[in-house]
Amino acid sequence: MRKPVMAGNWKMYKTPAETAAFFEKFRPLAGQAEHCEVVICPPFTNLAAAVEAAQGTRIRIGAQNIGWAKEGAFTGEISGPMIVASGATYAIVGHSERRQYFAETDETVLKRTQAALEFGLTPIVCVGERLEEFESGHTEAVLVRQFQQGIAGLSERQFARIAIAYEPVWAIGTGKTATPEIAAGAHRAIRAQARAKFGKEAGEAIRILYGGSVKPDNTRSLMAQPEIDGVLVGGASLDAVSFASIVNF
Ligand code: PGA
Repeated sequence: MRKPVMAGNWKMYKTPAETAAFFEKFRPLAGQAEHCEVVICPPFTNLAAAVEAAQGTRIRIGAQNIGWAKEGAFTGEISGPMIVASGATYAIVGHSERRQYFAETDETVLKRTQAALEFGLTPIVCVGERLEEFESGHTEAVLVRQFQQGIAGLSERQFARIAIAYEPVWAIGTGKTATPEIAAGAHRAIRAQARAKFGKEAGEAIRILYGGSVKPDNTRSLMAQPEIDGVLVGGASLDAVSFASIVNF
């Protein structure tokens, strides 16, 4: 059985004070959830506040990106050891907003994934097609390319430690969720790649999350798909009550 991962991606929202206020409300609602792993990924500047606020709960904290070097002249980047020092244990890698606005490529996504693993963080590696690729029927080809040029560069041991998030770009922040069937189909394509490259067992074990307009009222139908091993939630993770109801689907 794959344990679900219910992850919140706060994007560029919330100050440390707002982070503390979120946790005050969220802790009693979902802080001890055992049926899944709960991960919250605030901006870098709130990692320490989030780690502190999550103490004594089962909630884990993650970064939204990670530099590929240990340290160096990389203005604006945050390294694995810095994230680890904050107490965070996860890192989102290759989010479509990073790919779209900050020139992230399959190659840099792989480097960042390897850095996360090197420093002991669990990477949530994001893949997914854009609207025109979806509409022209190229979803699977895009997923195969992203897998082959990114994830396939990992060793078997590294692959066993990652989670993948399928996030169709046309569903992110648009209110258009992929239907559970569309999402499950994409997850099957990703899992087939995983099996072919890393073997049957690794393919069965890899957790594939769905992301894109996940809300309290569609979580249950998404999670009812055996192929969907959790969710990566943007907008609806900013509100404690809403994210708790997603976690407790
Ligand atoms: P959304 O974002 O839930 O606001 O659509 C998902 C994501 O970008 O991870």
